[in-house]
Amino acid sequence: MATYPREIGRQWQNPEHIDAWFADRPRQSDHQRLRAQLVKLLPFEAGAAIRVLDVGAGDGALSRDVLSVYPRAEVVCQDFSDVMLTRSGERLAPFSGQVTFVKSDFRDPGWTRPIPGMFDAVVSSVAIHNVTDHARTADPGRIRGIFAEVFRLVKPGGCFLDYDHMYAPGPVTEEVYRKVRAASQADVKAEDEMETRVRGMELKLHEAEGDNDGPSSNLAAATSRTVQTHLEWLKEAGFDEVDCFWKEMRFAILGGFRYSG
Ligand SMILES: C[S@@+](CC[C@H](N)C(=O)[O-])C[C@H]1O[C@@H](n2cnc3c(N)ncnc32)[C@H](O)[C@@H]1O
Repeated sequence: MATYPREIGRQWQNPEHIDAWFADRPRQSDHQRLRAQLVKLLPFEAGAAIRVLDVGAGDGALSRDVLSVYPRAEVVCQDFSDVMLTRSGERLAPFSGQVTFVKSDFRDPGWTRPIPGMFDAVVSSVAIHNVTDHARTADPGRIRGIFAEVFRLVKPGGCFLDYDHMYAPGPVTEEVYRKVRAASQADVKAEDEMETRVRGMELKLHEAEGDNDGPSSNLAAATSRTVQTHLEWLKEAGFDEVDCFWKEMRFAILGGFRYSG
C-alpha cells in the first residue's frame, strides 16, 4: 500500500461523489442492464448454492443480482470504501445470513489475504479500472496483477466475470466512439454535464491534497487498458478459456473459465 499516495481513491470515501455517481441515470441504467447480463453468463444452474466474491462491490448491486438468480448463494462483498461497505450492508440486509463484507484495497497485492476460501465465481462491475484512473499513479500493470490474484481464488470449474470500462486501442477508434456516442444519445448533454461535475469534484479533492496533476489518465494506461490486453492478462493468469462476451464502445464484459480437471 505504501506505493500509492493516500489521496488516490478518496473520491470513493466521499458521499457527495458517490451520490453523484449513482444519480447519473442513463449510465446507471446501462450498468443495471449489463450487471444482469453478466449474471446470465455464470455457468451454473439457477438456484445452485454457489460461493461468489464481488470485487469492488460498491452498494452491492451486482451481489443482489447474483442473489436474485442464486438465492442459496454465499456472497463475499469486497470494497475499500467505508461508505460503500455501509451501503452494501444496508442493501443486502435481507440476505444477512449469506453475505459477508471484507474491507481491502485491490491496489495492494495483498488485498486477497483477508478474503476467506475459494469461489465458484468471482465477479466485478465497473470497479477494477479504478487502479488506472489517475495521472500520477496510473498502473495498468496492476490490473494484470489483480487478474492473477483473482485466478488463485477461483475453484476448478469456476469463473471470473468482469464488466468494466476499457480504453479504445488508439486515437482513431477513440474519436469514432466519441462520434457515435454524441450521435446516438439524446441525453448526451446531461450525461456530459454529470461527468464534468463528477470530474470537478475529483479535482477538488486532489487539489485539497496538493495533487495538481488532476485525475486524467496517462498514456501508458490509455494504450494498455484495451479489451485485447485484458484478454491476454486473463489467459496469462491461468484461465483456460477467456472471452469478451459483450462490448459496446468503451464498456465490455470479459472473463475466464477455469477447467475442473
Ligand atoms: C463505480 S463503483 C461500482 C460499484 C458496484 N460494483 C456497482 O456495479 O454498482 C466502483 C467501486 O469500486 C470500489 N473501489 C475503487 N477502487 C478500489 C480499490 N482500490 N479497492 C477496493 N475497492 C475499490 C469503490 O469503492 C466503489 O465501490
